[in-house]
Amino acid sequence: MNLSDFAHTTVLLQETVDGCLNDPAGIYVDGTFGRGGHSRLLLSKLAPEGRLIGFDKDPLAINTGKELEQEDSRFQIVQASFADMKAELKALGIDQVNGILLDLGVSSPQLDDAERGFSFMKDGPLDMRMNPDAGLSAAEWCAQTSEEEIARVLKEYGEERFAKRMARAIINARADAPITRTRELAELIKEANPAWEKHKHPATRAFQAIRIAVNNELGDLEKVLAESVDLLLPHGRLAVISFHSLEDRMVKRFIRAQEKGRELPPGIPVPESMLGRTMKKMGKAIMPGNDEVRINARARSAVLRVAERLA
Ligand SMILES: C[S@@+](CC[C@H](N)C(=O)[O-])C[C@H]1O[C@@H](n2cnc3c(N)ncnc32)[C@H](O)[C@@H]1O
Repeated sequence: MNLSDFAHTTVLLQETVDGCLNDPAGIYVDGTFGRGGHSRLLLSKLAPEGRLIGFDKDPLAINTGKELEQEDSRFQIVQASFADMKAELKALGIDQVNGILLDLGVSSPQLDDAERGFSFMKDGPLDMRMNPDAGLSAAEWCAQTSEEEIARVLKEYGEERFAKRMARAIINARADAPITRTRELAELIKEANPAWEKHKHPATRAFQAIRIAVNNELGDLEKVLAESVDLLLPHGRLAVISFHSLEDRMVKRFIRAQEKGRELPPGIPVPESMLGRTMKKMGKAIMPGNDEVRINARARSAVLRVAERLA
């Protein structure tokens, strides 16, 4: 099978790029380059002096980014987490940018390639790391994590009702032999799940939860949101697509907190400049229409939120 067999259909392509763009001659960041769908459209709208820096953890995404660097001198790719955006940009001599785009989660090529170990449908090594050269694999995570922590992850990140039973099943299985394959994990979770949801594999929630933990997805999101306040120029835009309710809640709360500014006792007159308001939301949350969901099932849970840095 070729790498090109694992294609990625970009979600909310036009809406996200339009949401993020404010000055065609500016500097932009695509924090989740993937296969470059958003990046390519953004580049097509940038002026010759515009710049785009792409980030990804995944070595295969980086390969695609290197190809794009050859095609377009306005583009640069960085293999790093978007959580380290501020330091990585600083190393490139960039303090502030006009727009930051994040299309969270995993790409279709990652899910579809059994060897990456994200899929409960196909057997493969139990890995799930976006960067297979850093951090614990899902197999190592399942081997080392306490029963309580496994249950917490499954419950909080997977909203899994049977988190405790599933955590116990993992502990029991690993006492016999290490869990090293996706199919083994999927089967034991399936058996520990007494109530299968319609049209959903019984291990869906647990796999998603373990992936979120292994890649520190919520921790990375929290850090990049906090850094975006200083990174964005006045009128700079932050555009984030979430696929998980926890991520979307985090983004929504972050934007609301930036709009609100400091918590002050009511009734005290305070000049606007002291309120500490840093961003305003741009319009309502955007969800893909039926036509997009029909051609790309991955889009069905997507939510895009855009905010603008105040002057
Ligand atoms: C949904 S895909 C992005 C697809 C991309 N917008 C496109 O059109 O091709 C998410 C990508 O972000 C990467 N990613 C996820 N979390 C990341 C993080 N914290 N830092 C850097 N890259 C990350 C994944 O490796 C994956 O390639």
